[in-house]
Amino acid sequence: MTIAPVQRSTSLGSSAWTDARLILALEEVVEKELDRHLKVAKEWMPHEFVPWSRGRDFPGVLDGEAWEPGDSKVTPLGRVSLVVNLLTEDNLPSYHHEIATMFGREGAWGTWVHRWTAEEGRHGIAIRDYLLTTRAVDPDELERARMSHMSEGFTSDNAHSMLQSVAYVAFQELATRISHRNTGHYAGCPLADQLLAKIANDENLHMVFYRNLLKAALEIAPDQAMRAIADVVTDFRMPGHGIPGFERAAAQIALGGVYNLRIHHDDVLQPVLRHLKVMEIGGLGPEGLQAQQELGVFLDGLDAQATKFDERQAARLARIAARKQ
Ligand SMILES: [Fe+2]
Ligand SMILES: [Fe+2]
Repeated sequence: MTIAPVQRSTSLGSSAWTDARLILALEEVVEKELDRHLKVAKEWMPHEFVPWSRGRDFPGVLDGEAWEPGDSKVTPLGRVSLVVNLLTEDNLPSYHHEIATMFGREGAWGTWVHRWTAEEGRHGIAIRDYLLTTRAVDPDELERARMSHMSEGFTSDNAHSMLQSVAYVAFQELATRISHRNTGHYAGCPLADQLLAKIANDENLHMVFYRNLLKAALEIAPDQAMRAIADVVTDFRMPGHGIPGFERAAAQIALGGVYNLRIHHDDVLQPVLRHLKVMEIGGLGPEGLQAQQELGVFLDGLDAQATKFDERQAARLARIAARKQ
């Protein structure tokens, strides 16, 4: 990949890299990454993962059968996690608004924004169709949660900075991938596992796109990109944080091993940081160095916190096992 011979931030002064200039400077990379993405992304059919023959009418106009918790064999953890994942996907109109506003709707950036939105759109469709057809969740409760969540909308924590936006989505797409994949493993339904693996694969390709973009940003504006990465990593929040009852659901999801501090550190932050060699990048100016150091301190602290979480969790599981004997 050749990046237009733009001046490096050290000689230019980091303040000269406005969002508009960065968007322009990265257009060529977006074009190349979009091309690569379209070559590797394989078409798939969400409806093929939905067991339509198992569907039954609900009460109301069709006077069908009311939902009961025993209608589905999906595990309680799988149910909670599937709902969080679905409601997160449901807020796509807000995510689209945020990235379309930041990246624009023209040229290669615009093509990516629309293609990404189309791919994300099938995630919510497929999970909802699956959940309602298999009666895995209370449909009225799900609809009310969707209304409440979408009515709040989603506002990016990073709307003030193009680099922070790119850094956030690089980590967030991987977080979503891991969350879908682990939800599938614990759902207790092979079909849900297959569907979520398919969705996780889409999220992985999204992560690769944004990660490669972040790599290019580190090359053209290293100090600013390093600051953006440090800020995003230290303040990271999942996009679904506004879901009603999110804290409680997140605690269950953490204890169940779908997504917790250890997973966040080992399977989300570290793979991206290692791939980009963020902690080894040299030649930074004082601002970049400062950000890199802050990041190192934060990661050490997070690792220690994750170890404490693991120990508490192991002790808790041991107590549960002892009670069962
Ligand atoms: Fe998605
Ligand atoms: Fe995605």
